[in-house]
Amino acid sequence: MGTDTREPIVEMRHVKKAFGYIQALEDMNFSAYPGEVTAIVGDNGSGKSTLIKILTGCLKPDAGEVWIKGKCFSSLTVKQSMNEGVTAVYQDLALDNCKDCAGNIFLGRELLKFGIFLDHGRMRRKTEELLENLHISIPDITQPVERMSGGQRQALAIARAVDTGGDILIFDEPTSAMGIKETSRIMKLFAGLKEAGKTIILISHNLFQVFDISDRICVVHNGRFVDSFMTKDSSPQELHKLIVEKEEELSDEKAAW
Ligand SMILES: Nc1ncnc2c1ncn2[C@@H]1O[C@H](COP(=O)(O)OP(=O)(O)O)[C@@H](O)[C@H]1O
Ligand SMILES: [Mg+2]
Repeated sequence: MGTDTREPIVEMRHVKKAFGYIQALEDMNFSAYPGEVTAIVGDNGSGKSTLIKILTGCLKPDAGEVWIKGKCFSSLTVKQSMNEGVTAVYQDLALDNCKDCAGNIFLGRELLKFGIFLDHGRMRRKTEELLENLHISIPDITQPVERMSGGQRQALAIARAVDTGGDILIFDEPTSAMGIKETSRIMKLFAGLKEAGKTIILISHNLFQVFDISDRICVVHNGRFVDSFMTKDSSPQELHKLIVEKEEELSDEKAAW
């Protein structure tokens, strides 16, 4: 672990979570620092998404502590997490395919006029403004999102997360289903969010992407924290080696049975 003098904005201490017999998190420790991009890397099934869902209050940990902005929560609700500024964009994006951009940006928090009618005009204008501020170009924002490309849909989900006003943004595999061009647009979007002072937690399989964008890397394996270091102090080759070593340890353990 590095020698950080700053306080983490998000911290998990000895968090455990089981699903029946599956121990998804054995002993998870994790820290993210204000204004930094922290990447979480680890093999499939190592507990990354579970970790995120505990941070957002979607799942309750069996043990351990979650600290956000200096407050300790042994059990965090979705509302408490949101109140602390935490917003996540999940792999499935949770968009309503039949609705257009504005319908999705304001999903569940629709703007009304006279207290009862949907204010479509204002939602559309605000959506245009938001997308423009984030340099997201979607040629026709009135079409249902099911007709949009993967990159546009991801950008829209990110715009919605930003618009909730959260300052801790979490992205779970945001570019896994995307081409090179779309990925690079999303990466630019992240760079802009970082410049705007947001704290970003990014789960990604793409080690080159991780090195491109993150300040800090947290390696997890089999539901446990393995190591955390500043990105500039490592290399994709070194990180790859660390992950492979962990996988080999695991297969050795299995072989011993
Ligand atoms: N809702 C669930 N019910 C049962 N098992 C789950 C559930 N969510 C995750 N798991 C299991 O917990 C482990 C960690 O999963 P996950 O956090 O999704 O890992 P990752 O995101 O690193 O791929 C896996 O073995 C997975 O199958
Ligand atoms: Mg996952």
